Amino acid sequence: MKHFLKMSDLSYDEIISILNLADELKDKKRKKIPHKYLQDKSLGMIFTKSSTRTRVSFEVGMYELGGSALFLSSTNTQMGRGEPIEDTARVLSRYLDGIVIRTFEHEEAETLAQYSSVPVINGLTDYSHPCQTMADLQTIREYKGSFENKKLCFIGDGNNVANSLIVGGLKVGMDVSIACPEDYMPDDDVVKWALSTGRFHLTTDVKEAAENADVLYTDVWASMGMENEIKERRVAFEGYQINDNVTEVAKSNAIVLHCLPAHKEEEITKKVFEQHADEIFEQTENRLHVQKAIMVKLMAD
Ligand code: CP
Ligand code: NVA
Repeated sequence: MKHFLKMSDLSYDEIISILNLADELKDKKRKKIPHKYLQDKSLGMIFTKSSTRTRVSFEVGMYELGGSALFLSSTNTQMGRGEPIEDTARVLSRYLDGIVIRTFEHEEAETLAQYSSVPVINGLTDYSHPCQTMADLQTIREYKGSFENKKLCFIGDGNNVANSLIVGGLKVGMDVSIACPEDYMPDDDVVKWALSTGRFHLTTDVKEAAENADVLYTDVWASMGMENEIKERRVAFEGYQINDNVTEVAKSNAIVLHCLPAHKEEEITKKVFEQHADEIFEQTENRLHVQKAIMVKLMAD
């Protein structure tokens, strides 16, 4: 594994090995056992979109591993003035030991990786959010003990979070069901691969997707960059919400996850959100542990 760009690049063994290391790092942090595996290493973080969790967890994670992180906003660097990503990659590779990128076009992250001689980590693109999925999987395994015979259900927009979750969930052996409005399905390549596993169910019917689920998951109706579509999306996504009617058809011990930020009373009711806040904020915390594991795997000597 040279870069960390999308879930389909990872094998089952690679995913499990990152999750195992993430659990180990979580335990070490809890017990205050030093784990400075990236002493004196530097991570650059290119962000062309907003972030709370990804930015803070990478910065703190790098610090806890003994290294340092630099936040590179696209507006304050030459990237914002049009310096090509191919050149930026070759420049940053001379200073840094790893690069995180959060941007719009997934191709940009792939090009950065192609021209970079240091590992590139995808901190979210329009197509995928693999760091989020790894934290989701860590959380599911923590609450459910294993992935075996578990059903993961995503309700809402077939967006970056859904694309990555589908691939990650299926790769570790879960059954995955998705309920999306007709015009907001996940990307075609993801659906095609997912159907080939025989453990994927795609529907427009929320209750059908949620039936007997062990994990219910949702994300906002309009992702970053799509804010101008919110009016029409509110119409299209009406009913694509995790609420009491949906939790009722899932398993009684089902957990509810959300990548955050949440728009309460749109994709999830405030009531269900608060009932499952422990799981949701554990999921948030796991971003830190799992990203530390990803960085150690990619960047340690
Ligand atoms: N879930 C997530 O990636 O959050 P941020 O946008 O705050 O980084
Ligand atoms: N789908 C959301 C996820 C935010 C973490 C977005 O892209 O805005």
